[in-house]
Amino acid sequence: MNLLELESVEVSYSRRGRAPVRAVAGASIDLRQGEIVGLVGESGCGKSTLARVAAGLISPTAGSVRFEGEALATPSRRARPRREVRLQMVFQDPYSSLNPRRRIGSQLADAIRINNLLPPAERERRVVELLEQVGLPATAIHSFPHQFSGGQRQRLAIARALAAEPTALVLDEPLSALDASAQAQVANLLLQLCRELKIAMLLISHDLAIVRQVADRIAVMYLGLIVETGTTQQLWTQPRHPYTRALIEAIPHADGLGTKPESLPGEVPDPARPPAGCRFHPRCAQALERCAVEAPSLIPLDQERTVACWLHTPEKHEANPQSLDRGAFAGD
Ligand SMILES: Nc1ncnc2c1ncn2[C@@H]1O[C@H](COP(=O)(O)OP(=O)(O)O)[C@@H](O)[C@H]1O
Ligand SMILES: [Mg+2]
Repeated sequence: MNLLELESVEVSYSRRGRAPVRAVAGASIDLRQGEIVGLVGESGCGKSTLARVAAGLISPTAGSVRFEGEALATPSRRARPRREVRLQMVFQDPYSSLNPRRRIGSQLADAIRINNLLPPAERERRVVELLEQVGLPATAIHSFPHQFSGGQRQRLAIARALAAEPTALVLDEPLSALDASAQAQVANLLLQLCRELKIAMLLISHDLAIVRQVADRIAVMYLGLIVETGTTQQLWTQPRHPYTRALIEAIPHADGLGTKPESLPGEVPDPARPPAGCRFHPRCAQALERCAVEAPSLIPLDQERTVACWLHTPEKHEANPQSLDRGAFAGD
């Protein structure tokens, strides 16, 4: 079952005296129970905007968002419907959800209280349990957020989200501010929470190398649109969209061979003035004439894979097989 379902979501930011920015231009994505879906793309592609829509923090200009089968309520000052508490968001900066001036214990107890989840007598036990679930000692209840490392602080922000007993978490660049070893540890924590507590996660990151370590499936976003989805294995070993391939090639190699930045020339265009046709065509080494004129739609290629690229429309599969990786049809 789809726990969270975004369909043809569009978000336009209006700007005084200037053309509106269509940051998300019709993106669909779904999250099933207990899985981790990575959403990747360069900075400026609309990931954070889509994350805020997915978490119910902003309303889409068009399209729909459903959580546990029901449309998300319009964000407003009033309390969200109780069932939407099971959808929580974690940000890059842990201070987005932690108060620097209050002790951890009372902040976590508050998160339980505001959601009416437990009688007062049971809150302290639950706070300790939350700390344990994110790998921190019970003594943390007496401390303030600044007394922790960046990685520990992100664990605390995650504990705060867990206090609401979520079935789904939307995490926007939760690892980006951390050093490499803290990144690996927090990534492991996410995997563990997904497995043990069966929490589904939409994990947003510009870093495909990290997402690959934890995600079951990956969606690749470019300039407001999803351009490819697939299992992590499919995307990593046989990327179909030239943008996905370029993202992979741009990752530094562990063997010290370096990156191939030439595979991703230029930068993400201004979403207020997107290129005609396929939005990626000005940066694409394999662009056809058609790509400059006609936008490809996201079509299913096989069970989990969808791709929006003229090189991979069904007739192109027959006509232009050399554009695919060798062995591209094997083992999908
Ligand atoms: N509040 C806003 N007002 C106007 N433009 C915005 C606003 N927030 C984001 N944008 C623009 O929308 C585009 C997508 O931004 P964002 O969703 O933050 O992407 P990402 O998280 O992938 O970097 C960018 O061009 C950004 O400048
Ligand atoms: Mg962002």
